[in-house]
Amino acid sequence: MGIRIIGVGKNLPERVVTNDEMSQYIDTDNEWILERTGIAQRHVATTEKSIDMAAAAAEEALEGIDKETIDLVIVATVTPDDITPSMAAQVKMAAGLPNAVAFDINAACSGFVYGLWIAESLMKGSAAGGSVTNGMKRALVIGTERMTRITNWVDRGTCILFGDGAGAAVLENDPDERGILSTFIKNYDDVNGVMKCKANYINPPFWEDDLTPQPLYMRGRAVFKFAVNAIDEVTRGALEKIGLTLDDVDWFVPHQANGRIIHAAAQKLGQPLEKFQISIKESANVSSATVPMALYDLESSGKLKKGDIIAVMGFGGGLCAAGAIIEW
Ligand code: COA
Repeated sequence: MGIRIIGVGKNLPERVVTNDEMSQYIDTDNEWILERTGIAQRHVATTEKSIDMAAAAAEEALEGIDKETIDLVIVATVTPDDITPSMAAQVKMAAGLPNAVAFDINAACSGFVYGLWIAESLMKGSAAGGSVTNGMKRALVIGTERMTRITNWVDRGTCILFGDGAGAAVLENDPDERGILSTFIKNYDDVNGVMKCKANYINPPFWEDDLTPQPLYMRGRAVFKFAVNAIDEVTRGALEKIGLTLDDVDWFVPHQANGRIIHAAAQKLGQPLEKFQISIKESANVSSATVPMALYDLESSGKLKKGDIIAVMGFGGGLCAAGAIIEW
């Protein structure tokens, strides 16, 4: 019995902002951004909310699939439009999934891979609760982000990195397939506070501390170093669990945070860059959405064959990291 991926979807806002356009707002230029990050442009929301992008990606992933068979919706996001109802509850309603249990998770840029891990665990175990009584047949896992909403637009070291969008995958519990072969999840204490963003709420009359809204703060070099090591650790960890080697992997689909991070990780893993899906040039870092978006890009490229071994890897604030090995 295995939990395999049977559908993928992706949605991006229409508005594209090139590096040249970024240089109208901050002191930067196309060459610097492209060379240091591999990013040429990002999609930015002008009217699209996180739920709009999530619902659109979900619809595409669900094409041809009976919606009544979806038992679970997990949305990974650090930029939900609302605290309640959750993005997952709103996707369930928008997509018309009458039997799904729905909730959100926050594991920063690793969120989608954490979502795969949770869905796999629930689908393989004897799921209980809600309307599910006989184990879960199908699940929808989504990453959706409006990163431009929490980005510090006067910090040229961070605002150039992020964009908006959503990616989705439908999982199926299939007795004849292997699907997700292993997962490796790890949290590291962010003792130096290298990546953080305050939640911005209303100001109660009794609260005495500072409540000034604060955008995303990041110490780029420290995050870079963490990212390369984390990719290496979760990939090797997930492979080791099932006795596979790096050479057994056909495709690596890492979180798209910086092209140079992907290059450095490929080098550390001793694997050719051709095996890595790199989508960052067109859509930048979209936090939890980049892994499913990159998976979608790989699938759409036509390069992926049935039986291929894929390693997906996420890392991000928290600090957290996650890897999964999937047979396609
Ligand atoms: N345009 C032009 N110059 C810029 C710039 C920009 N957008 N951003 C920073 N600079 C300048 C700095 O001011 C600094 O100038 P100085 O030497 O005169 O002080 C110089 O470039 C080097 O800055 P530094 O921050 O050391 O650059 P870097 O090589 O580390 O690259 C990042 C910066 C952010 C691209 C890189 O550290 C990175 O990608 N880190 C990982 C971030 C990440 O992935 N976060 C998400 C994880 S989920």
